[in-house]
Amino acid sequence: MRSDLDDQAIAILKRNDRGGYTVPTHGLYPYQWNWDSAFVALGFAEFDTDRAWTEIETLVSGQWDDGMIPHIIFHKQDPGYFPGPSVWGTGKTPPTSGITQPPVLASVVRRLWEAEGADPAHPRLRRLYEACLASHRWFHRFRDPLGNGLVMVTHNWETGRDNSSEWDDALARVDTSGVGTYQRRDTGHVDAAMRPTAAEYDRYVAILQFGRNSGWNHRTIADTGPFRVVDVGMSMELLRANRDLRVIAEALGDAAAVQELDERIALSEAGMDWLWNDAAGAYCSRDVTTGESSGLVTNASFLAFYAGVGSAAQRDRLLAGLARMTTSATYLLPSLEAGSRAYDHQRYWRGPIWLVVSYMVAIGLAEAGHGDWAERIRADSAQLIAKSGFYESFSPETGAGSGGNDFSWTAAMWLAWVRKAGGA
Ligand code: DGY
Repeated sequence: MRSDLDDQAIAILKRNDRGGYTVPTHGLYPYQWNWDSAFVALGFAEFDTDRAWTEIETLVSGQWDDGMIPHIIFHKQDPGYFPGPSVWGTGKTPPTSGITQPPVLASVVRRLWEAEGADPAHPRLRRLYEACLASHRWFHRFRDPLGNGLVMVTHNWETGRDNSSEWDDALARVDTSGVGTYQRRDTGHVDAAMRPTAAEYDRYVAILQFGRNSGWNHRTIADTGPFRVVDVGMSMELLRANRDLRVIAEALGDAAAVQELDERIALSEAGMDWLWNDAAGAYCSRDVTTGESSGLVTNASFLAFYAGVGSAAQRDRLLAGLARMTTSATYLLPSLEAGSRAYDHQRYWRGPIWLVVSYMVAIGLAEAGHGDWAERIRADSAQLIAKSGFYESFSPETGAGSGGNDFSWTAAMWLAWVRKAGGA
């Protein structure tokens, strides 16, 4: 039987549906975002499987010839967003941004396909498999400068954890003298206290301008761009996505891809220790240019379980970190540990809880035999939605919603995970 919250979640997805794709939320994000759409497909799959596949097919319609799946597809012009298609200037049809976002798509495709019986002849599988394979190859070709199977990002927006303080030191070195004037739109939609600051935004725009000035040459950007950081979140997500894609490759009888993916998986498993910070007791993002570790424990650090990495001793340290989080947070899982520099319980990715990361962490914890922790995170997420509604993110201290309301991926997470006591 459907509950009232089920009905509300379904209504949000239907309301944010723009015909073949879903906007993350009305106003603040009026286009199709990459990882938002992947998670949103999981929500649609709970009541309309055809629409779930369509969401992803529409996303990959914006894939570049070099394999990159962009972070935004600008299907229809909307003056309420900055930076819009003319600022990115990528010249693509449909218009897109010039950067990517977390590679969670293959994991979602596997889940949709298995929910429908895992038939290798599924009519909608092959195209999406090929799109994911091309996208993973793009990461391997352009975003693995150290050759250790991890993911370097060239813009903080690629991580999806836009203003996490993991990026502060690298951003501080970005020259903003040529940025010029522009008008932000985000702070016209939601409280500025919940968004990145003006100084941060200048840096985001400066990095964008570097990419545009290079003619969106991904080689130039990767080799000489102003922002080159290995993201712990995307490194874990790509490892997991390679494992999930391998399952599909095997079902499709693509032996060459199975071998290729096995090699990538082994490389990433061995390479992940480059991110381990023993003082923090966690995997942390690390700057490629300076070699400095952020030393910050974020929700992405706990994706180690989702990626299936870590020795027994490393996992024990991570679990201790999770336990430590509960001493300052009423609700799990905060995006930054309280007490860390720049922690702010309501400012975007500097503290608030984001259910899509919580979902992946909970999957990993359950798979690793820590069902009690997975259930704690799920139950806390249920309380947040029951208390505050379907917000973009939530304060780990008060549970109040922050950012946009009626948010598509929060509704999707309710349908696909949070409402299901005992696991996704
Ligand atoms: C924004 O505009 O804040 C987006 O998160 C960028 O992807």
